[in-house]
Amino acid sequence: MTSPRRTFAIISHPDAGKTTLTEKLLYVGGAIHLAGEVKARGANRRARSDWMKIEQQRGISVTSSVMTFEKDGVTFNLLDTPGHEDFSEDTYRTLTAVDSAVMVIDAARGIESQTRKLFEVCRLRSVPIITFVNKVDREGRSAFELLDEIADVLALDVAPMTWPVGMGGTFEGVLDLKRWSISRPEGDSRTFQGKVDAEPILPDEVREEVELAQAGYAEVDAEAYRNGDLTPVYFGSALKDFGPAELIAALAQYAPPPRAQPAEPAPIGPEEKEVTGFVFKVQANMDPQHRDRIAFMRLCSGTFKRGMKLTPTGHGKPIAVHSPILFFAQDREIADEAYPGDIIGIPNHGTLRVGDTLSERAAVRFTGLPNFAPEILRRVALKDPTKTKQLRKALDDMAEEGVTQVFYPEIGSNWIIGVVGQLQLDVLISRLEAEYKVAAGLEPAPFDTARWISSDDAAALKEFVEINRSALAKDRDGNPVFLAKSAWEVGYVADRYPKVKFAATRER
Ligand code: G4P
Repeated sequence: MTSPRRTFAIISHPDAGKTTLTEKLLYVGGAIHLAGEVKARGANRRARSDWMKIEQQRGISVTSSVMTFEKDGVTFNLLDTPGHEDFSEDTYRTLTAVDSAVMVIDAARGIESQTRKLFEVCRLRSVPIITFVNKVDREGRSAFELLDEIADVLALDVAPMTWPVGMGGTFEGVLDLKRWSISRPEGDSRTFQGKVDAEPILPDEVREEVELAQAGYAEVDAEAYRNGDLTPVYFGSALKDFGPAELIAALAQYAPPPRAQPAEPAPIGPEEKEVTGFVFKVQANMDPQHRDRIAFMRLCSGTFKRGMKLTPTGHGKPIAVHSPILFFAQDREIADEAYPGDIIGIPNHGTLRVGDTLSERAAVRFTGLPNFAPEILRRVALKDPTKTKQLRKALDDMAEEGVTQVFYPEIGSNWIIGVVGQLQLDVLISRLEAEYKVAAGLEPAPFDTARWISSDDAAALKEFVEINRSALAKDRDGNPVFLAKSAWEVGYVADRYPKVKFAATRER
């Protein structure tokens, strides 16, 4: 018997404390020995890689990774999502590979824009949420105000699991509402020594607050949580070690184990024997000396064994996976076996793409990994015209990795790239130079947005294509795309061609 799996991500607005919480979870989970290692290792990694200079300059993490740890017989796979403010497809796709999420909010700020966007994606994917209200050791909003905001803004029932005893200057600790014990701060936060007071004497006003809260909010209900109707809420301080241990216990107790994943012809459950999985992320340059890529595959069913042959559905030959990588937080390890819910890294030379389904034999295809309509379009201007071939290769590669999208117009030779956030443009230019030795610049494109077009009526589609040829392009996979000058134009054109569908996302 293998241990239960909990595959989850942390979603938050920048600065809410995701890095600090991640570090503390790994620390409590025994995966790192000193708080501070996550950042230190991050710095080492950055120093090694050229294009990650952007990360350094901006002080953000562009790349996602996977951290695995075990605690009390449960294996946790924590998928990191980039925390910067730019809308990132990478983040969205990562959320397709988790079974649950922890939402971190800053007690002084409440729900912020990025938290909300990410929450909407979780809701779309039916990913249940445990909430962690962070920084209660600082002056923040009242617990009631925060709970009401979560309930109102996200339309969820809230079930407080712990309660802050005082905040900021009067912060005394966190009350566990089930056990009725308080963890009180003690010692240096780096050494994790919250002292548990089993028979606390509560100040009167706290006692009143708690009575009100227990009368006014929902009790935790595992089913409502897993259905995405309720969120258990923990108050704490990642920095001072209030909450991380409780969060791990909550994930073990309530969070869903690996679930069936949407697929064609039918959803695939973890109990199925056949090994299947999908690629939700491709990363180049983990080792800058090599041109290898790592495809991150979420295993959805079966027991994966090293050396197994897996076939990407729809294209390519079987790949023998001889050196799959598991991501124990201390180190990367070669995996001998992996189970549903686990993430394995598959080294390859560009054959595997985001959205690919891999399986032993079955002709299945996982669905629901979207491409998003770009919000920024740019024309790529080559500085040295003899490098056309290299540029095309580079653009195709990066489209494959999901860094940018690329559109080849039907008329003319000015390739257009599309991104959903400014940051992706910087990554593109920097990687073109560093990895492909192609000097290029970006110019404004005469278009502002793109829609994938299709129709059940072939004649209607043909008519549309003929009339609008100057605004048509193909994406990397040859799908027809309509380039529009504005979202308004999309609406206008869609009204005139009711038989043509204009899609803002394309499922792969
Ligand atoms: P992020 O990954 O979500 O962007 O946030 P991060 O963990 O980097 O935390 C953002 C800032 O908030 C950091 O301070 C961090 O120390 C602080 N912080 C995180 N959790 C808590 C908490 O529970 N209580 C308090 N009081 N502060 C917290 P910084 O000064 O920006 O960075 P640093 O110099 O401390 O690393």
